[in-house]
Amino acid sequence: MSNILQVCLYNTEAESSAPLRAQITSLNFVRLVAEAKSPEQLAGMLHEAGINLIFFHLDPDQASALEVVDQVATRFPEIALIGISHVTAPDAILATIRAGCDQFVCEPIDSVDLATAVSRVASKRLLTRSKSRRICVVGASGGAGTTSIACNLAMEVAHLTDKPCGLVDMDFQFGDAAINFDCDPKYTFYDLAESGGHVDRTVLAGVLTSLPCQVHLLARPDKVEQCEAINADVVHHTLDLMATVYETTIVDLPRHVDPSITAALGQADLIIIVCQLLVPSIRNVNRYREMLLRLGIPEERIEVVVNRGDSSGGRITSKDLEETIGKPIFASIPNDYQFVSRSLDFGRPIAAIDRGNPVRAAIGKMGRRILGDAVQESGKTGARRGLLGRLLAK
Ligand SMILES: Nc1ncnc2c1ncn2[C@@H]1O[C@H](COP(=O)(O)OP(=O)(O)OP(=O)(O)O)[C@@H](O)[C@H]1O
Ligand SMILES: [Mg+2]
Repeated sequence: MSNILQVCLYNTEAESSAPLRAQITSLNFVRLVAEAKSPEQLAGMLHEAGINLIFFHLDPDQASALEVVDQVATRFPEIALIGISHVTAPDAILATIRAGCDQFVCEPIDSVDLATAVSRVASKRLLTRSKSRRICVVGASGGAGTTSIACNLAMEVAHLTDKPCGLVDMDFQFGDAAINFDCDPKYTFYDLAESGGHVDRTVLAGVLTSLPCQVHLLARPDKVEQCEAINADVVHHTLDLMATVYETTIVDLPRHVDPSITAALGQADLIIIVCQLLVPSIRNVNRYREMLLRLGIPEERIEVVVNRGDSSGGRITSKDLEETIGKPIFASIPNDYQFVSRSLDFGRPIAAIDRGNPVRAAIGKMGRRILGDAVQESGKTGARRGLLGRLLAK
C-alpha cells in the first residue's frame, strides 16, 4: 500500500463543500479522490476507487449521516472514518463514535486537530492493513500466460515467506487455476456468494482448498452460470477477509471489466498486466492502463510483465514496449512451452519442477521483488531453521 491515503468526502451540504475540500487538500499524504453528495454516489465510489479513509460531514442531518456511517463501517471495515460536525454535544460525539467513526473533528475545523485525527487513524488502522498485500494479475490478451504466472507466483510467495499465500481465481466462467494445481475443489467462490453475507474467517477457511505447496486456493464456480451470483459486494467482502488471513493474496483476473472486477482492482496494492510482444497485446496494455488510471488507481501500482518475449522473433522488443508505457517492465518471463505445459500436464505448477529452469527463476525474481523486506523477515535467506523449525515444517 502506498503512503498516500486515498480519501473521499461525504457531504450533503452544498455551502460546506469548498471549505471542507480546502481543509482536506491542505493535508500532507492525502489525496482527495472524490466528494460524494449522496449515499448512492458514495456506494459507487467505494466499489471503484481504492479508498482508505472517508471524511463524513454529519451536518445538516446527523441522524441520516450516521445511518450511512453505520452501513459503511459494517460493510467496509478496512476503511477508516472521521466524522466532522458543528454539533459538539457529548452525546452527539458519542453517537458518531458508536456508529463507527474512528475520530471526531469539530467545526470550525482546526487544521492541527484535523491532521492529528488523520495521523491517528493512519497509524492505528491503515498501517495494520498494509501488512497484507493484494496482487491482481490480468492478461492483455487471451492466453498471455496470466494463470500460469498467478499460480506460480502464489507458490513462490508461499515458498519465499514460508507462510500460506492466498490465490483467488476470479475468472469465474473459464478460470483454470485449480487445473494448474491438479486439484478438484470441494467448495468455490459460489458457496461464499450463496451464504448470503454471513461469511467470516471460519467459513472462508472451509471454502478454500489448501494445497501442499502452502497455496490456499479460492476456486472459480463449478458451473459457468453460477458466476451470476457473485457480485461486487461479495468480492469486496471476500478479498478484505482474505487480507485479514493472508499476508499476500494473488488474484487471477479475466480480461473483461465489470463491477466485481473493479471491486478487486480498487484495493489492489499491485496490478500486473501480463502481455506478449505482439501489437494487439501491447495495444491492450495501454487501454487497460488508461482504464485503471481513470478508476483512480495510482500509476505506481500498475506494472507490466512480458511473457514469452523471446518468442516474438525480435520484431517488437521489450525496449519498444517500455517506450510505449513510459517505464521499465516489471519482469520478463522466458518462453519455454515444454516446461510450462509439462507442469500443466502433470497438474503441477512449474515451481514444483526443475528449480534451475529460467522460467522458474524469472517468477522467483518477481516474487522477491514483490515481497521486498518480507523475504528477509521470514528468514528465508539461507538461515538454517533448526531441528524444531524443520520438524514443524514437515
Ligand atoms: N512462459 C511460457 N512459455 C511457454 N508457454 C507458456 C508460458 N506461459 C504460459 N504458457 C502456455 O500458454 C498457454 C496459456 O497460458 P495461461 O492459461 O496461463 O494463459 P491465460 O492468460 O491465463 O489464458 P486465458 O486468457 O485463457 O485465461 C498455456 O498452454 C501455457 O502452458
Ligand atoms: Mg487464465
